Amino acid sequence: MHILVTGGAGFIGANFLRLLVPRHPEHTFINVDKLTYAAHLGSLAPIADRPNYKLSRTDIADREAVREVFAQYKPEMVVHFAAESHVDRSILAPEAFITTNINGTFNLLQAFRELPQGHGKLFHHVSTDEVFGSLGETGYFEETTAYDPSSPYSASKAASDHLVRAYHRTYGLPAKITNCSNNYGPLQFPEKLIPLMILNACEGKPLPVYGGGQNVRDWLYVEDHCEAIWAVIHKGKIGETYNIGGHNERKNLDVVHRICELVAEEEGLPLADVQGLIRFVEDRPGHDLRYAIDPSKVMRECGFWPKENFESGLRKTVRWYLENTQWVNEVRSGEYRQWIDKNYGARA
Ligand code: NAD
Ligand code: DAU
Repeated sequence: MHILVTGGAGFIGANFLRLLVPRHPEHTFINVDKLTYAAHLGSLAPIADRPNYKLSRTDIADREAVREVFAQYKPEMVVHFAAESHVDRSILAPEAFITTNINGTFNLLQAFRELPQGHGKLFHHVSTDEVFGSLGETGYFEETTAYDPSSPYSASKAASDHLVRAYHRTYGLPAKITNCSNNYGPLQFPEKLIPLMILNACEGKPLPVYGGGQNVRDWLYVEDHCEAIWAVIHKGKIGETYNIGGHNERKNLDVVHRICELVAEEEGLPLADVQGLIRFVEDRPGHDLRYAIDPSKVMRECGFWPKENFESGLRKTVRWYLENTQWVNEVRSGEYRQWIDKNYGARA
């Protein structure tokens, strides 16, 4: 089978390909990626030379380019990860989020519909729990929770989910959607909370916590997310949505404190020095208070159960960033410094 994976050079897409390309030599995986600032080809080094892996540098917002790649590979399956994914960037510069997340998804759906008979068996759309907006102190996101996105990022992902669902209902396009909670693990671009805090803590730089650090996120190890997607692809029902999570809610400040402890331990640094780097900075506008997924449907219908717990997963992640200095230096060599100045300069 030809499986077209969009955004395979990003954090979750690269973890997905690294797990599945070696495990499934009977399938050919075609990675369709624009290679934005968030992508890194070094993440794919372990599979780059495999005969069942191919790379196509393509912008999904370019309709003709998308048509060409679909005409060339005639995929049986699309797994759609490609997106602009960082909430803070969507607040400072929303346009790319509309172009990629909405128009890009539209282009893929149109190209999928035009595939010859017998191809185009499944369009799997990878989405986020942020489409549901914020929870209060109690309750969970269920598949039936109403959409209520807060940021340009989550609004663009909500629009893409609606398009996928509409193409299923209107044209019978065989689609599934997964909405997952916050991922962490190796290969995550260090603009996101966990890798940013790990690297700053190691380098003695400030640890910028938004607001009072009381916002809650529900963390899932990235490989568990990838396994859940694969389980939904095989066991989920066409036209259905599945929420993915592992019941692991944490306050941001608690996550940052645990990272300080792990970095101090791994690097032999005094804990008080590392914790002394914490700075409370101006909050994110429209900052959602709490996310928490009810994953009972994906567990019941697809047999998904997370393997990693937060304690072991976070330690593995800290070690990965400490050991992979070449990867870290390469991903921070582009416009990273400008982003840090732009996002945190005004907040200090
Ligand atoms: P990421 O930012 O690390 O990677 C995104 C990838 O998409 C990059 O390789 C980038 O080059 C590519 N891309 C961006 N614009 C493109 C375009 N126009 N054409 C082709 N490729 C393009 O993102 P991620 O964290 O790996 O997230 C992947 C998907 O999972 C996204 O759809 C995101 O909404 C969703 N998601 C992420 C999380 C999370 O915690 N990171 C949780 C739930 C869902
Ligand atoms: O819930 C799923 C979503 O999780 C995905 O859809 C997004 O693509 C992904 O980026 C992530 O969004 P968040 O906004 O939750 O992740 P981020 O790592 O940016 O922030 C996590 C929390 O930490 C959030 O409450 C904001 C806070 N934060 C973040 C940064 C970057 C800080 O306090 N300081 C920071 O410097």
